[in-house]
Amino acid sequence: MLSYRHSFHAGSFADVLKHIVLIEILQHLLKKDKAIHYIDTHAGAGLFDLDSEHSTKLKEFETGINRVKEVDWPELMTYFEIIRSFNGPRKPDYYPGSPMIALRLLRDHDRAWFYELHSTDSRLLSENVAHDRRVKVMSSDGFDGLLSLLPPVSKRALIVIDPAYEIKSDYAEVVHTLRDAHRKFTTGTYALWYPVIERERIERLVRALEATKIPNIQRFELCVRPDSLNDGMTGAGMIVINPPWTLMATMHVLLPRLVAVLGQEPGADYKADTIAAE
Ligand SMILES: C[S@@+](CC[C@H](N)C(=O)[O-])C[C@H]1O[C@@H](n2cnc3c(N)ncnc32)[C@H](O)[C@@H]1O
Repeated sequence: MLSYRHSFHAGSFADVLKHIVLIEILQHLLKKDKAIHYIDTHAGAGLFDLDSEHSTKLKEFETGINRVKEVDWPELMTYFEIIRSFNGPRKPDYYPGSPMIALRLLRDHDRAWFYELHSTDSRLLSENVAHDRRVKVMSSDGFDGLLSLLPPVSKRALIVIDPAYEIKSDYAEVVHTLRDAHRKFTTGTYALWYPVIERERIERLVRALEATKIPNIQRFELCVRPDSLNDGMTGAGMIVINPPWTLMATMHVLLPRLVAVLGQEPGADYKADTIAAE
């Protein structure tokens, strides 16, 4: 039984990092006319009301999107335009999830598959994308679903894997899924989100990915507080397989700025490195 609801965490610093990387990758893929497939294995509800009971309980958006929305970095122009497109001049404030962000960028001939296992969020997501003929919402397991879709006919795809890791087996499952998916579809771009709660767990995740021998893997991580075993989620990262060639340089510009704006304590830091060479 799943209890995680992303509505408690929407717009957090972790979402900011995730969605910036997502947009950077999609914008690069969309430079070519040929259709792409966008597959979101853990899609969430798609759109979040930041004035809702859930969001205002933890107010994670206050140390996330609210802190960055005042900056005027040209690299984030598209991100802010997308957020603005969901909001009118008055409250409530809405924050889009990964499916709605992707749909704002995808073209008529692109296709999207959204997997969401939680029945309420799956229903909300279906309502949010109703009438969009590019999309299929699946209320089933995203790990299995992904493997059933590969390789995509278009041979061009972005796969986003964004589990909540409330089930600890997710740490192993993401590696097995990436290994199997990459065997079926070697040239796809894969973006895996992870939380930094326990550094040793992330080191194990990285070692397990290295052991798959998948080449061309980069990591982008933002830590708003120093690593700690008893301070909850102190950071979050995105691991990208077959990243756009521009991504590392862009993130080297953005991550230090994000640390300056989103860092919560001395010792806030970032990583932008290569886990496996091309
Ligand atoms: C971190 S949230 C997703 C947030 C979303 N990607 C975004 O950026 O807006 C993870 C979601 O995965 C769903 N979920 C958990 N296990 C799943 C599975 N095996 N297959 C599909 N969805 C799952 C949860 O219900 C939750 O809504």
